Amino acid sequence: MDMTFSASLLYHHLFLFFLLVLHAPPCPAAGGSWSVLLPSIGISAMHMQLLPNDRVVMYDRTDFGISNISLPNGKCRPNSTDCSAHSVEYDVGSNNIRPLMVLTNVWCSSGTLMRDGSLIQTGGWDDGYRRVRIYKSCGTCDWQEIPNGLNQQRWYATNQLLPDGRQIIIGGRQAFNYEFYPKKSANENSPSLPFLVQTNDPNVENNLYPFVFLNPDGNLFLFANNRAILWDYSKNQVLKTYPTMPGGQPRNYPSTGSAVLLPLRLKQGIADAVQVLVCGGAPKGAFVNANNGKFDGALDTCGRIKISDQNPQWVMETMPLARVMGDMLLLPNGQVLIINGASAGVAGWELGRNPVLSPVTYRPDNQIGSRFEVQNPSTKPRVYHSTAVLLRDGRVLVGGSNPHDKYVFTNVLYPSELSLEAFSPSYLDAGSSSLRPRIISPKTKTKIRYGRRVALTFSVTGPVDPNLVSVTMVSPSFNTHSFSMNQRLLVLDSGNSTKRVGKSTYKIGVTAPPSGNIAPAGNYLLFVVHKEIPSPGIWVRMQQ
Ligand SMILES: *[C@@H]1O[C@H](CO)[C@@H](O)[C@H](O)[C@H]1NC(C)=O
Ligand SMILES: *[C@@H]1O[C@H](CO)[C@@H](O)[C@H](O)[C@H]1NC(C)=O
Ligand SMILES: *[C@@H]1O[C@H](CO)[C@@H](O)[C@H](O)[C@H]1NC(C)=O
Repeated sequence: MDMTFSASLLYHHLFLFFLLVLHAPPCPAAGGSWSVLLPSIGISAMHMQLLPNDRVVMYDRTDFGISNISLPNGKCRPNSTDCSAHSVEYDVGSNNIRPLMVLTNVWCSSGTLMRDGSLIQTGGWDDGYRRVRIYKSCGTCDWQEIPNGLNQQRWYATNQLLPDGRQIIIGGRQAFNYEFYPKKSANENSPSLPFLVQTNDPNVENNLYPFVFLNPDGNLFLFANNRAILWDYSKNQVLKTYPTMPGGQPRNYPSTGSAVLLPLRLKQGIADAVQVLVCGGAPKGAFVNANNGKFDGALDTCGRIKISDQNPQWVMETMPLARVMGDMLLLPNGQVLIINGASAGVAGWELGRNPVLSPVTYRPDNQIGSRFEVQNPSTKPRVYHSTAVLLRDGRVLVGGSNPHDKYVFTNVLYPSELSLEAFSPSYLDAGSSSLRPRIISPKTKTKIRYGRRVALTFSVTGPVDPNLVSVTMVSPSFNTHSFSMNQRLLVLDSGNSTKRVGKSTYKIGVTAPPSGNIAPAGNYLLFVVHKEIPSPGIWVRMQQ
């Protein structure tokens, strides 16, 4: 090789190098970290609920075959040869699990944490279609079941806690109606809900597990497939029909996207703007295509709408990563975490492809175009039947993923996943410890009353900017199939009242939410947030 040739080759390489450097997209700052909490909890966590004693109840289904954990004391399910557990209770504090016994099939069901801190779960499949099940955590307690607790079969329904303490159960496969639990009388029926028929794509559905939010005016916002209504459930009346989301692509099961009610910022008892964000899903036709072995790319768009506007319009945004079967969680600092899922295919047995390992955060208050940030990836695919819930310490518990109709651990693209992981958002980095508030008072489990002042004392070791302290309340949601039922976050009215009262001790006064329409009575996690760094939470009990 002569000199001129090698020099020209060198220049050529340098030229390519600069071309690559100059054209590389700006690298979004990655953050957050992952850790495996337990390599196997014995089941594949398909449904999760955090309880007010920092335990998480989880379950998959009773017909997955034999799980990897036995029922206690050699017990077996009645009328069954399966003596393995399909539900467990995870204790966050001790990082241990305890097997539980569900009697009937809980597959693709729904639930709500009730005022008293018990989980009331509804429906499932087969012998579980009309069951209501109660789980009250006490250390040794187990599931209790009420046969025929529901009027209708509820499979893929969505539940919402109501201001009167009951829960509404909306829809389900071939169930174009709704009902309440508990019922006011034995003959309470299940009125039909035409919106569920109108949004049902024949043979494909694309409207199961509808996204439901309690609007601060007391009505329910329902989103299914590609559109939404504001609905007065007490009169079964549609009050407002929102425009179809631009593009008209489906966002609900099996074209599973996710949705959140963005943080409600309270000022003098009023939430100034009520906004919903719907992200991801799969394009029209993706379900049929996936069944024929063609895996369409997931949607990379989100629609955001101010549901309280006179003339509400969707504003579309583009995510850095396309995603189907992602979970959207509200973090204590008001950011949205989008986690789990895949970038091709749809929800259903064997129908998802190309797991998305990196979560993304979304800052609702930033300018459009600078809201998303890609986070550090996990190593474990969490595709169909994966879950995520926020813990009191600010971590996000991640589990599940089983795209097979049995437990399958070998010779498949995405084995049934029995592990439990935690994603720690970057606010938990050690580098932020001098900014992190710690709540000194009130003590956890404090009762707070509607509209009253609540005085909080907290400490921060480093310097505090009193105008950058807020207090948030987050409801513990029921997570399954990429939707977190009952999820809401309130930013309480504090009027920047932070005052220094000691060397590193501060006081802040906030006004509790004004009513059950804004915050249904029950258990919430409360956080003090300083410069976007949340304290460890405390449990509070909202009541009259
Ligand atoms: C099943 O449990 C055993 C013992 O806990 C564990 O060693 C094994 O890895 C688990 N299997 C799977 C597939 O997670
Ligand atoms: C077990 O089967 C018997 C007889 O069919 C039935 O009466 C009973 O309710 C079943 N038990 C459960 C828990 O399903
Ligand atoms: C609190 O401080 C922030 C930041 O300086 C400011 O934007 C906000 O308007 C203040 N709120 C009140 C009620 O003074």
